[in-house]
Amino acid sequence: MVISLDSPLDMHLHLRDGDMLDIVAPLSAETFAAGLIMPNLVPPVTTKEAVCAYRERILEAQAGHRFLPYMTLFFKSDYSPEFLESVREEILAIKLYPAGITTNSEGGVSGFDLGELSPVLGAMSDLGIPLCVHGETGGFVMDREAEFIPVYEMLAQNFPDLTIVMEHITTKDAVEALDRYENLYATITLHHLYITLDDVAGGLLQPHLFCKPIAKRPEDRTALLNAALKAHPKVMFGSDSAPHPRDKKEAPGCAAGVFTAPIALQALAQLFDRHDALDNLQAFVSGNAQRIYGIVPPVKEVVLEKTPWLVPDIYEGTVVPMFAGQSLEWRIVSVG
Ligand code: DOR
Ligand code: ZN
Repeated sequence: MVISLDSPLDMHLHLRDGDMLDIVAPLSAETFAAGLIMPNLVPPVTTKEAVCAYRERILEAQAGHRFLPYMTLFFKSDYSPEFLESVREEILAIKLYPAGITTNSEGGVSGFDLGELSPVLGAMSDLGIPLCVHGETGGFVMDREAEFIPVYEMLAQNFPDLTIVMEHITTKDAVEALDRYENLYATITLHHLYITLDDVAGGLLQPHLFCKPIAKRPEDRTALLNAALKAHPKVMFGSDSAPHPRDKKEAPGCAAGVFTAPIALQALAQLFDRHDALDNLQAFVSGNAQRIYGIVPPVKEVVLEKTPWLVPDIYEGTVVPMFAGQSLEWRIVSVG
C-alpha cells in the first residue's frame, strides 16, 4: 500500500542552534515542506534582527532541501505596536510561554494580567498575527493544562479576532475547549497520540519520552486521537520535536522533549493506517494548517509505503529519536 502526502507541515518545531541545528535541520527539511520554528533559544528570539539571523542560520543548515522555516517571536508584553508592525512580514506567529514552565522559558509571562497583556494582544489582533501558547500553569504536573483552560477562555473572549493556537494539547479538556470558541485552534504532537504517562513512568523510566506537557491519561489520549484521526478542522499537526543531546536526556535532571522529526511522517502513517483513517492524514498534516494560518507552503510530495522501516538508534551519535531501534510499519520511498 502506498500513500502520497502533499506539502506536509510541522506547525510546532524546535530546531535549536549551533551543532544541534546542523544535525536536526536537514532531518525536518528532508521530508517536511515547512515548519513553524519555536523561538526558545538562549537568549530567546525577541528582535527583528534575531528573527532574520536565525532564519538565515536555518536556511544554511537545511542542506539544500526545499523547506520553508516560518519564524516566530518570543512573546514579551512590552513590544510596541510599531515594533510589531515592523516585524510582521518576518514572522508567522508569536509564541507565549508562561515564565519558567519549560526549556528556556524564563523570560516568559508571569501571571496573566489582562491589563499587562492587552496592548500587545490588541496590536497582534489588529495586525493579524496569530498567538501560539504553551498552556500550562505552575500547578500539579498532571493538572497544569486543565488549569490553564480558563486563561485560554479569557484570551479567546477578550480578543475574538485573534487567532489563538493551544500548542501541543494533551487533555480531553483542551479538545473540548476547541469547540467553545471560534478563534481557538490547537496543535497535537505525534508522541501525545501514541503514549500516556504509563509509557513514560509506568515501568522503567523512559527519559526519551519525557516532555512538557507530560503525557496524560488514556482517556486524554483517546480524545486527542479522535480529534486527529478525523482531522478536526481546528487541529493541526505540530511535532514539538525537541532534541536534546543524549547526555542531557539520560541523566538526573533529564531535559524535557521528545525528538520525533525524522520519524514523524512514518509514525503518523502507521497510526492513521491502524485506525483506518489514512484519508484524513493530508488534512491533519497540511490542509488544516494552510487554512488556519492562511499559508501556501512550498510544493513537496512525500510518498510512503507500507513496508517495515527500522528507526536508527541515534542520529549523528548525539540525539535519540522516539521509537529508536524499533520497526515502524511505514517508510518513506520518495520526496519530490
Ligand atoms: O518537552 C518540551 N520540550 N516541551 C516544551 O515546551 C519545550 C521543549 C524544548 O524546547 O525542549
Ligand atoms: Zn515546543
